[in-house]
This record gives sequence, structure tokens and C-alpha cells, in this order.
Amino acid sequence: DMSPIDKAKYAAARRAAEFVEDGMRVGLGTGSTAAWLVRRLGERVRDDGLKIHGVPTSTRTADLAREVGIEVITLEEARWLDLTIDGADEFDAELNLIKGGGGALLQEKIVASASDRMIVIADAAKAVETLGMFPLPVEVIRFGWTTTQKLIGNMLGGMDVAGREMSLRMEGEQPYITDEGNHILDLHLGRIGNAPQLAMALNQIAGVVENGLFIDICDLVVIGHIDGRVELCD
Ligand code: A5P
Repeated sequence: DMSPIDKAKYAAARRAAEFVEDGMRVGLGTGSTAAWLVRRLGERVRDDGLKIHGVPTSTRTADLAREVGIEVITLEEARWLDLTIDGADEFDAELNLIKGGGGALLQEKIVASASDRMIVIADAAKAVETLGMFPLPVEVIRFGWTTTQKLIGNMLGGMDVAGREMSLRMEGEQPYITDEGNHILDLHLGRIGNAPQLAMALNQIAGVVENGLFIDICDLVVIGHIDGRVELCD
């Protein structure tokens, strides 16, 4: 039996899967909501003979996609994607996002940027007025990461944010390592006054690979509710 939150995620994933058509090259997101989408697309491949190529945004998603029978290709092979469908940790009314709770933000941003269209699937609890309650993930090179952290701290001093705490993401006793071999700093900002400005400032810092703010990338959010209703927001 599905939990209420899973029902909401599944409803959004199922609705978004309807946007996928024969012959499309589709970016496949990462996380628990995106996993519902991948399973649903697998059903459509198996039961309806849907013909697609999927470009996964993480090793986790690649494994799942193959397991459910989706033909997986690399982004280099695809070169350009018709559509990417992914989850998010927060979204605002302008469809700007925080992503990376699952640690895959770098590949997710590259894949979404290579797509004609990005659809986000999310339960209603992820809608926010202002981004920032969810800690903002920043992917940093391992070399000199404490220096990178200091530089980020200095930069945050001039930004309109409510908090400035940072934590190195851990996996048990060890620092978390991304698919690309980097670390993640989670920025506890509380409220991000100017998300486009912060996204640009972060990516200017030596040692920062990418940040979890997705600005002007998402075209549509499919919001799932716990009673199974779905809302489209664009
Ligand atoms: C993965 O790196 C993230 O960007 C996910 O898209 C995000 O964490 C959403 O995950 P859930 O669907 O599990 O909430």
C-alpha cells in the first residue's frame, strides 16, 4: 500500500509520463518522484510499445531505467533531448527550483539544459513562496574544499539570505561523493532573497562545480496531491 506522499508523487509522475511520445529522447531525473516516472515509462514501453531513448541523470536512475526496460543512451549519443522530467526539492511561483537533495544536481542540470523542455514533478508540499528553507546543495571539487567553503562564506556575507550555516554532506562517517567524484556542501540559508543573483555568484567561486538553483530552466510543474489530484503550473 502506498503512503499518502507516495500517492501524490505517483499521481504527478503518471500525469507527466503522458507528455512522452514515440521517438522522443527523454532526460530521466533522480529521486523518489522521478523513480515513479521511470517505472511508469517502463510500463508504457512494455505494455503500449512506446519507443523512447532515455538519458539518466545518475547511476541510480540508469540502473532503474535498464531494469524496467527503457533503452538507455548517453547524453553524448543523444546530443539533444526533447524533454526532461525530474523531481525537485522546492519550487516557487516563477518555477525556479532547488534541486540536489538526492545529490545528482550536476548531471541533472546538464541534462535539463540540453532539453527543449523541462517538466518538474513534485508533491504539493514542495511549493514555496521563497526558496531556501531546503538546504541548497553546492557541488564542490574535493581539492581544497575547505577553502571553497570559506570563499562561499565570504560571498554569502553580501547576499540577501536569512542564514549562512554550511555543512559538508556525509554518508555515514565519510563525506558523500557524487557520481562525478565531488563533495556537496549544503547551505542552510532559510530564505534566498535573490535566487538568480546567488546562483551566478556561487558559480564564480573557484572550486564550485555547480549549485542546486535551477533558474529559468523549468517550463512546467506537475503538482501531485495526496488525494491523487494533479495540477499543472506553468
Ligand atoms: C536529486 O538530486 C534531486 O534533485 C531530486 O530531484 C530531489 O531531491 C527530489 O527528490 P524526491 O523526489 O525524492 O523528493
